[in-house]
Amino acid sequence: MKNKFYITTPIYYASGKPHIGHAFTTLYADVLARYHKSLGKEVFFLVGMDEHGAKIAEKAKQENKSPQEFVDEISKSYIDVWSALNIGYSDFIRTTSQKHKETVSEFIKKNYESGDIYEGVYEGLYCVGCEKFLTEKELINGVCPDHLTAPQKIKEKNYFFNLKKHLPEIKKRIRNDELRIRPESRKNEILNIIDSGISDFSVTREKEKVRWGIPFPYDESQIIYVWLDALVNYLSPKDFWPADLHIIGADINKFHSIFWPGLLLSAGFPLPKNIFSHGLFTINGQKISKTVGNTIDPLDMIKKFGVDATRYLLLSQFPASEHGDIKESEFEVKYNADLANGIGNLFERVFTMLINYRIVEHPMSHKSHKICESSDVEIKKTENKYKNYIENYQIFEALREVLLFAKKLDGYITETQPWILAKNKDKKLEEVLNYLFCGVEKIIEWLELFLPEKAKIAKDYAQRIKSGDYPEEKLGLFPR
Ligand code: MSP
Repeated sequence: MKNKFYITTPIYYASGKPHIGHAFTTLYADVLARYHKSLGKEVFFLVGMDEHGAKIAEKAKQENKSPQEFVDEISKSYIDVWSALNIGYSDFIRTTSQKHKETVSEFIKKNYESGDIYEGVYEGLYCVGCEKFLTEKELINGVCPDHLTAPQKIKEKNYFFNLKKHLPEIKKRIRNDELRIRPESRKNEILNIIDSGISDFSVTREKEKVRWGIPFPYDESQIIYVWLDALVNYLSPKDFWPADLHIIGADINKFHSIFWPGLLLSAGFPLPKNIFSHGLFTINGQKISKTVGNTIDPLDMIKKFGVDATRYLLLSQFPASEHGDIKESEFEVKYNADLANGIGNLFERVFTMLINYRIVEHPMSHKSHKICESSDVEIKKTENKYKNYIENYQIFEALREVLLFAKKLDGYITETQPWILAKNKDKKLEEVLNYLFCGVEKIIEWLELFLPEKAKIAKDYAQRIKSGDYPEEKLGLFPR
């Protein structure tokens, strides 16, 4: 399959409802999936839920529910939010599905048959919140830095994966970008982890401790470790593997960039081609947490700003190569500046002039369209930058370029003063309006990935003007 593009998001823990952190990653992938679709590729966009493990079983118990009942509810809440956010995924995988359980058993058998799984005893620390084994070095003041809780001290029989055997190959592939990790800083982070020594990891947990999971086929006392269970989800669209792009947060880079390639090499699968590991954000300066009370429900944002503006507001905060902070109070400021008074106002101004001046029946005549498509330096420059950014997964930067171009168009209006040209019946008016129309059409095209509904409305409106069927109503894209 030559022209395919397979993109994934992490499968989120079905331990609580989605917040804007989960929405951010999924939107990120949605935009890139739409971009590759727009290039005419056959895109497979996989999302889903990680439904096994001790953490989920504990949560279900707290709510007096069976684990299955509990994950059914949580997964539904994710499906609802993805639909509200207009996420165009191809499949929603759940790790409690029969098919997934079979794929995982088959996969671990391949690791076992390669001689890469051995029995041992794990004695050390485990953070249930992360579902991860920790070393003393990783703690800050004795607690897990991500969950601010003391990890469990455990000693249990586990089966281990011989990661050491595969490290040289993993390192080689990462170094030469056969497995391309971006941004560069996250690639270096991974190479440093490998260089500073990383031990084999457990691929099973004792059933006594963790009941909610997939049985290990070779020992009844063991359950497959939730991370192996989760990673294998990516193999589910068989015809599409290897993935062209895994989108993940920086918190789970090690699992995707070291453990996952190791498991794949051992089982004889090709490695994913690209991993993009974006920065994480805090809200109002603090980690997103229910206890702090700073979580933001994407559905609340949609109620306030609408779907497309929510998509825009989440994706335009800061470059994804860095960690960032989101200030809730600034959403409204940004909405007004970039959308209502920015893009929305520009479109309104340009369309209103086109309607009012009706200089020609078909302002976008073939000739003038050609002029703006092929020879306008500013448009070409913006388009090249925009494309280059998107190809390099730099969504913030791509959006910034579009907004900058919109500002330039605004400046062009101020400079050329079409209302004076109209008053003086100046021939230049046609050229000016054609250029503005052309610029607006380009902005609509560029924003389609981010604002699919609004872009469609604006496109239809522009089309009516183009065909001389001048709308009477205002466009009103982003109400103030
Ligand atoms: N279940 C595992 C992933 C398994 S993938 C094979 C998991 N789940 S999670 O629910 O904890 O989701 C973590 C991911 O959610 C992050 O990697 C990131 O994509 C997203 N985010 C969660 N909080 C976030 C922020 N505060 N900021 C940005 N993204 C965030 O780990």
